[in-house]
Amino acid sequence: MAKHLSLESLILFIIVAFPFFSAFAAAAASEEAISLLEWKATLRTRNNSVLSTWTLPSSKTSPCSTWHGVSCNSFGSVTRLNLSVSTVNGTLYRFPFSSLPNLTHIDFALNGFYGNIPSQIGNLSKLIYLDLSSNQFSGKIPQDIGKLTNLEVLHLVENQLNGSIPQEIGNLSSLVELALYKNNLEVLSSILSNLFMDTNLLTDPIPSFFGNFTNLTYLHLFNNQLSGSIPWELGKLKFLESLSLYSNNLTSSIPSSLGDLQSLTLLHLYENRLSGPIPNALGNLQSMEDLELSQNELNGSIPASFGDLSNLEYLYLRDNQLSGPIPQELGNLNLIVLQMDTNHLSGSLPDNICEGGKLTNLTANDNMLTGSIPKSFKGCSSLVRLRLGNNHLTGNIPEAFSVLTHLQGLRSNKTKAAQKCCGKATLYYQYLVSLRRNIKNN
Ligand SMILES: *[C@@H]1O[C@H](CO)[C@@H](O)[C@H](O)[C@H]1NC(C)=O
Ligand SMILES: *[C@@H]1O[C@H](CO)[C@@H](O)[C@H](O)[C@H]1NC(C)=O
Ligand SMILES: *[C@@H]1O[C@H](CO)[C@@H](O)[C@H](O)[C@H]1NC(C)=O
Ligand SMILES: *[C@@H]1O[C@H](CO)[C@@H](O)[C@H](O)[C@H]1NC(C)=O
Ligand SMILES: *[C@@H]1O[C@H](CO)[C@@H](O)[C@H](O)[C@H]1NC(C)=O
Ligand SMILES: *[C@@H]1O[C@H](CO)[C@@H](O)[C@H](O)[C@H]1NC(C)=O
Ligand SMILES: *[C@@H]1O[C@H](CO)[C@@H](O)[C@H](O)[C@H]1NC(C)=O
Ligand SMILES: *[C@@H]1O[C@H](CO)[C@@H](O)[C@H](O)[C@H]1NC(C)=O
Ligand SMILES: *[C@@H]1O[C@H](CO)[C@@H](O)[C@H](O)[C@H]1NC(C)=O
Ligand SMILES: *[C@@H]1O[C@H](CO)[C@@H](O)[C@H](O)[C@H]1NC(C)=O
Ligand SMILES: *[C@@H]1O[C@H](CO)[C@@H](O)[C@H](O)[C@H]1NC(C)=O
Ligand SMILES: *[C@@H]1O[C@H](CO)[C@@H](O)[C@H](O)[C@H]1NC(C)=O
Repeated sequence: MAKHLSLESLILFIIVAFPFFSAFAAAAASEEAISLLEWKATLRTRNNSVLSTWTLPSSKTSPCSTWHGVSCNSFGSVTRLNLSVSTVNGTLYRFPFSSLPNLTHIDFALNGFYGNIPSQIGNLSKLIYLDLSSNQFSGKIPQDIGKLTNLEVLHLVENQLNGSIPQEIGNLSSLVELALYKNNLEVLSSILSNLFMDTNLLTDPIPSFFGNFTNLTYLHLFNNQLSGSIPWELGKLKFLESLSLYSNNLTSSIPSSLGDLQSLTLLHLYENRLSGPIPNALGNLQSMEDLELSQNELNGSIPASFGDLSNLEYLYLRDNQLSGPIPQELGNLNLIVLQMDTNHLSGSLPDNICEGGKLTNLTANDNMLTGSIPKSFKGCSSLVRLRLGNNHLTGNIPEAFSVLTHLQGLRSNKTKAAQKCCGKATLYYQYLVSLRRNIKNN
């Protein structure tokens, strides 16, 4: 059974436009009704009253108004069948696939249907919605399902389907939701290179078998309510370039295995409840450009190994419980944004923090920093935003910043700024505010 997975959660989302459909037919209604009655005769139902509405009354009214779960278009042709939670048992072997060409919706969820899903399901070319979840369907998902080019929703959750997921599912160009979990499907890991399941209501932990989708390059699960820890196995995704798990409810510590993701350029773990120290191994992420760990409960110090992230441009560590000094090694980087505010960082600001020459935004406010503002900040002409407030910094602040001509709120050039600063502090209001609650100038 090594290759057979119980898919707990696999939903692919693809953006689509809703197809326009129209239908008209009245003449065929009775033929449709008769074909449904022939199928009904093969079904068993404990509660007779559900399908007992499926009869042809002598008045020859169509099934459209009186049959349980049947809806029609204005021409009296069947478009929807909803038998969800109807205690129906039986198979689809005698289902009148070719007699119901205008079907757009089938919802047979939560019944006792069993047997294979017939390949003729591919004949229902107008089908938009197919939910066969929570039944006992077995065998393979038919390849012909790939012919349903209008299908937007395919839910086959909680059956006994096995075999591989047919590649033809990749032909369902209108598909918005694909839910296959709780089956015995064999994962065709090679067909998955991008997995976008973001912005849903997923609440379970991230399944560890995602680590078996070895060819994944994008794994985006942000904006859900995912719980539990980040599986160690994600560190096996050697081709992963983008791992985005922000805005979830993830707990526990960041697995050091993520340091093995040599192709990773983006790691977004912000807005979770991650705790423990930041693994030193993240300093191995040679391709990393955008590392965002803000708004968690991370503690310990900022790893000095971050100084090895030679491609890093964006480093967000704000709003955690990080302590200890800011590693001098961060000065080796060519950062554009460095946000470290709202932590418990101590010691002084590294002298060389601006040396990369690209730093535009630096926030280190609301920490326990001491010492003076490094003189090197004078040369930090790229800065547009600087927030150092609420620390224990000392020193001659205006002098330190007299050269920061691009700082937000400064309209004058270097010389003018220098003149204004020492005389009238008002021009400096914007960033003086951001320096608030430090020691006054000496
Ligand atoms: C299905 O709808 C089409 C029009 O869209 C109509 O021509 C046809 O008769 C309908 N089929 C049945 C079986 O009612
Ligand atoms: C339907 O099938 C289930 C098991 O698959 C069985 O427990 C139940 O009794 C069946 N109901 C009817 C009406 O046959
Ligand atoms: C049978 O179905 C009817 C309506 O469809 C429902 O009111 C009734 O509770 C059901 N009985 C059982 C035993 O499920
Ligand atoms: C089928 O009916 C159930 C119960 O009324 C409803 O919850 C479900 O949304 C319906 N399915 C579709 C596809 O409309
Ligand atoms: C229905 O599908 C089967 C196989 O999937 C095919 O052989 C058959 O011709 C189709 N029938 C119609 C009426 O399209
Ligand atoms: C799916 O699309 C491929 C081309 O992308 C085509 O070769 C194949 O026949 C299609 N399969 C089905 C079942 O439509
Ligand atoms: C799928 O399950 C059926 C029984 O339902 C079994 O006969 C078949 O060998 C299984 N196929 C695979 C690929 O496991
Ligand atoms: C990854 O994709 C390549 C082709 O791009 C394929 O040859 C390989 O088998 C895939 N690996 C896995 C584990 O599916
Ligand atoms: C992942 O693949 C390994 C072999 O590469 C296998 O032993 C393991 O069972 C798979 N994991 C799951 C959850 O299927
Ligand atoms: C996060 O998980 C906690 C329990 O661990 C729960 O109380 C809370 O509602 C969850 N939050 C969200 C947004 O799901
Ligand atoms: C950088 O700071 C400027 C000015 O405050 C702001 O407009 C911009 O959004 C900031 N950029 C980032 C990436 O934080
Ligand atoms: C900048 O200051 C210098 C020296 O005072 C002055 O000559 C120049 O015109 C100023 N430039 C601007 C854009 O204000």
